[in-house]
Amino acid sequence: MGISVLSCVSLLLVFELFSSSVGVLQGVPGSTLVFPCLPGQNQQSFAGAKITWKYNDFLVPDYPESSKQLKLSKDGFYLEISPVSVANEGEYECVIKQNDMEWQKVHIVQVDVSSSYILKVNEGSTVNLPCDRPPSSKDLVHWYSYDKGMTNGTRKQLNPAETGEMVDGDRLEWLFGPLEKDMTITLNGVKMEDAGIYYCETAEEGRDSSNFNTIELIVEAAPTVLPYSCVGFMTPWESCQDETSRSWEAMLGESLNEFSMKLYAHLSQSQPMNNLLFSPISISGVLTHLLLGARGKTRRDMETALCLSHDFFCVHSEMKKLKLKLQDTLKMASQIYYNPNMKLSESFTNQSMQFYDADPVKLTNSSEVNVEMINSWVAKQTNNKIKELVDSVPAHTELLLLNAVFFNGQWKMKFDAKSNMFPFVKLNGDTVKVPVLYSAKYKLAVKYVPAVKAQVAMFPLSGASSLFILLPPTTKLSDLQLVEGKMTDKAVSQMVEQMNQVSPQATEVTLPKIKLDIRTEMNTLLRKIGLSELFDSANLCGLYPDNELLLTEARHRAFLSLTEEGVEAGAATSLSFSRSFSSFSALRPFLMILWSDQAKAPLFVGRVTEP
Ligand SMILES: *[C@@H]1O[C@H](CO)[C@@H](O)[C@H](O)[C@H]1NC(C)=O
Ligand SMILES: *[C@@H]1O[C@H](CO)[C@@H](O)[C@H](O)[C@H]1NC(C)=O
Ligand SMILES: *[C@@H]1O[C@H](CO)[C@@H](O)[C@H](O)[C@H]1NC(C)=O
Repeated sequence: MGISVLSCVSLLLVFELFSSSVGVLQGVPGSTLVFPCLPGQNQQSFAGAKITWKYNDFLVPDYPESSKQLKLSKDGFYLEISPVSVANEGEYECVIKQNDMEWQKVHIVQVDVSSSYILKVNEGSTVNLPCDRPPSSKDLVHWYSYDKGMTNGTRKQLNPAETGEMVDGDRLEWLFGPLEKDMTITLNGVKMEDAGIYYCETAEEGRDSSNFNTIELIVEAAPTVLPYSCVGFMTPWESCQDETSRSWEAMLGESLNEFSMKLYAHLSQSQPMNNLLFSPISISGVLTHLLLGARGKTRRDMETALCLSHDFFCVHSEMKKLKLKLQDTLKMASQIYYNPNMKLSESFTNQSMQFYDADPVKLTNSSEVNVEMINSWVAKQTNNKIKELVDSVPAHTELLLLNAVFFNGQWKMKFDAKSNMFPFVKLNGDTVKVPVLYSAKYKLAVKYVPAVKAQVAMFPLSGASSLFILLPPTTKLSDLQLVEGKMTDKAVSQMVEQMNQVSPQATEVTLPKIKLDIRTEMNTLLRKIGLSELFDSANLCGLYPDNELLLTEARHRAFLSLTEEGVEAGAATSLSFSRSFSSFSALRPFLMILWSDQAKAPLFVGRVTEP
């Protein structure tokens, strides 16, 4: 009796020992499975040992002659199956022989061919329900579905006939055919009641019927396109609570400054070599005016693009104050043209008058008359420097917002009257003869400013403004780009501050007499600064509540000339640099910033690569 109990215990022990020498591994079709001969053992301990692997009693060839799917590592310790397929199921036995010891381990590999998906579709759409036939299967695949509630538990066979035809032939069809490897089916015009569990099932060699590719189909109501509505967006722009606060002025200056340098960075990157000229204050002027009518996300996008904080309600009254302050130096005007059939919001037109002195003017039904009307307004506001801004006003135009600026500043110190020709060295090294402004002894503040990595000269102008010319160290494009990379709003403010500390010295000055007239690609620029929605789906409910208004075209043209008298600009600027502090010759590519001390921001920013 006692003996039989003992033998029973030892049998159990042996059985347990044996079963733990068998490990089960699960693989997924298409994956890679790598496993060691002895899990948890350090392969170094078996260095030099003889390791053999058998798969279903067939010897696996040693490295490097392994088969395509079964690979042994160099020392034979690891076996890799890649890609895993149902054909790899079975017993993998490895034996390690080292000196007079031997280890054995059996790995059972199982391949899980079932997989499940959740598919969410909108009502009315067409959906493919995927199913792949297992490699060993040659039988017909059967598709089944359970209804949404699954309460009933009755499955419905979708292709019951031996031919493989689908029951609901109009809406359900094989993507390729009932006998292909890919057994995907297509469900057309999905209805709400189609929601439920779908799966395909087949019997394959050596296995019982197995299901795989279970798909839970969730059907959602198709989104309804909401009709355009301005409900909740029609309140006028908030009033400024504390109009006298000085901090608003500083805030606007900082925003303008940051906005200017952001525009310059975008423009200089998109056109690395050409002359550039634009007036940030004019672009900001028209966008800020439009901001009066922007609501919701459009308003927030515009505030972000204009570098304004979202609670700066006083921005419009500050723009008005700035315009009045600058009026002797920079004349700024705004104008609204609109289709008389549209009903502009009264609060918008009232506030446009209040802050931007813009009284809406009706467009006529003739494009030529409109073009003439708009261009002559622009010409008048820019002292005839820009005579053509638009070349057509398409019939579907509903609204035009305009802003024009004109700057006229006299040099505080004049140049010599006689004009000479000097060679200007271009970026490519070529030279071109240009007329210059020259002075043998010009009182000029010149300094190398590390913040912008350029030699900077400050030419004082009437009306508390100055023309800064930034001359990179050489004519190389990389040096120009180095300076451009440094031109942030902070660096420019720092530069202005430092230059105001420099005492002017008698300097020999040569400046090219430039005359720039440049159109800026505004559509791309506005998209780049985050205002794409103005073109695609703008919320301008504060301006026009009846219909959606979209931006179709934006233009900017700037003019600037340097003459013996000073700087005249209808929207633009220039800058220079030299070998020593006693001469400053801008006869090579340079950047320029026309700065207003009153606005604490640039009025024009530009680059000259060829005068
Ligand atoms: C179960 O569902 C099937 C198919 O949708 C239907 O024909 C049958 O009447 C249902 N049975 C019960 C008990 O609800
Ligand atoms: C617009 O201004 C007019 C005239 O000053 C005034 O009568 C009207 O109430 C104002 N409308 C709005 C919406 O502010
Ligand atoms: C333009 O409008 C005027 C009246 O406002 C009308 O007499 C004329 O026929 C219109 N022209 C066209 C081309 O529609």
